[in-house]
Parts: sequence; structure tokens; C-alpha cells
Amino acid sequence: MSQGEKLRLVVLISGGGSNLQAIIDACREGRIDAEVVAVISNRPEAYGLQRAREAGIPAEIVDHTAFPDRQAFERELAAHIDRYEPDLVILAGFMRILTPGFVTHYKGRMLNIHPSLLPHFQGLHTHRRALEAGHERHGASVHFVTEELDGGPVVLQVEVPVLPGDDEQTLAARVLEQEHRIYPTVIQWFAEGRLRFDPEQGVLLDEEPLREPVRWSI
Ligand code: GAR
Repeated sequence: MSQGEKLRLVVLISGGGSNLQAIIDACREGRIDAEVVAVISNRPEAYGLQRAREAGIPAEIVDHTAFPDRQAFERELAAHIDRYEPDLVILAGFMRILTPGFVTHYKGRMLNIHPSLLPHFQGLHTHRRALEAGHERHGASVHFVTEELDGGPVVLQVEVPVLPGDDEQTLAARVLEQEHRIYPTVIQWFAEGRLRFDPEQGVLLDEEPLREPVRWSI
């Protein structure tokens, strides 16, 4: 990316796309120096595709059920992504497990958001599991994607309280609202060159190795 140019984002989704919307809005409002150049969904019915079309962004479907195996799906997915020459690939509610080969291709330039305070509750049903475990604090994490599922280095986390009477829905809504703050923030750090992934040193924030995630709290 040369100076003055906007960071090119390809966003992968599987569902509602509220994080996608938060990123589109942040780009539009000039809060992040980036542009969503394409949205790709593995599910044809994902509402996020509609959000992309309404914003005038190319919206594509690569339906995983149409491929004989994960590798064939990912080959096609990568071809779609790479056509747009993104600086950063953004997983925003993209619910497919990715193979090491795919992840390696995007090493240091693929981010994910996960609805928990990683390393707690990797995988699915994070809100239910936080409630069942009796945690008083829960949250969300933005991390670089590595071969390990939900295990890549976390950049920014936001912590929210678990309130008496919370159920999965109320807790999920409280976390999601905060996801919409932290994802654009991390993208902007990357756009500004403040954040990068160095193959030897790992995540650097302001050229310092990030020893632990930045933590926000509400
Ligand atoms: C978000 O809560 C995101 O953190 C989660 O899916 C939701 C997508 O919402 N992602 C994962 O669970 C990934 N393992 P959205 O489609 O409205 O952005």
C-alpha cells in the first residue's frame, strides 16, 4: 500500500454481518482509512450480503456445500479473495474452520473477531459457556489468525460485565455492541502502520512486541 491510499479490506462472513456493517460505517465516516473492496459469504442466505449490496460493495458467494472437500472450497475462496488484492482479510462471523495452508497464505494479514475473552471459550456457544462457568466478566477479542483455531495472537480485547439475570441473548447483545467498537479500532491501527505482524517477533504495536492484549473494559 502506498502512502495516501486506503487499506483494501476483503470481509468474509457467514451471517448477519453486523460487524461488517460497523466496518463499512467506520470507512464511510472516515474513522478508518480503509475501504471494503469485497464481501464474500460461504452462505448464500447471509444477510450481510444484502448489507454489502446496499453499500455498493461487490458481494460474492462461495458456497462450501458445492465443493467435495475443504481444500477445494478454500482454493476457490482464495481465488475470489486474491482477485481483489486485499491488504487485510477480515473474518467477521465467518463460521468455517480454515486449514493451515489457507491460513499460512494470509499470515499477518488476516484478522478474526471472537466473542470471548480468549483464551477462554475458544470455539462455539461462548456466551452460554461463560454463563454456565459463572464468569462475572466476558467479552470479545480481535486476533491475528494462525493455524490454531481461535488461538492466534490477540491484539485487543473488550471486557463487559455479566449481569444478574443475563441470558445468552442479553449477554451476546452486550458483547456484540462492543465488538463493533474494537474491530474498526484494530483495523485502523493496521491502516496507520501502528500494528503489524513480524514473522520473527510476532505482533508489533508501535514497533514494540505486544506481550499481552490491549484490554478495554466497560
Ligand atoms: C459475532 O459475535 C462474532 O464475534 C462471532 O459471530 C458473530 C457474527 O455476528 N464470530 C465467531 O463466533 C467466530 N468464531 P455478525 O455477523 O453480526 O457480525
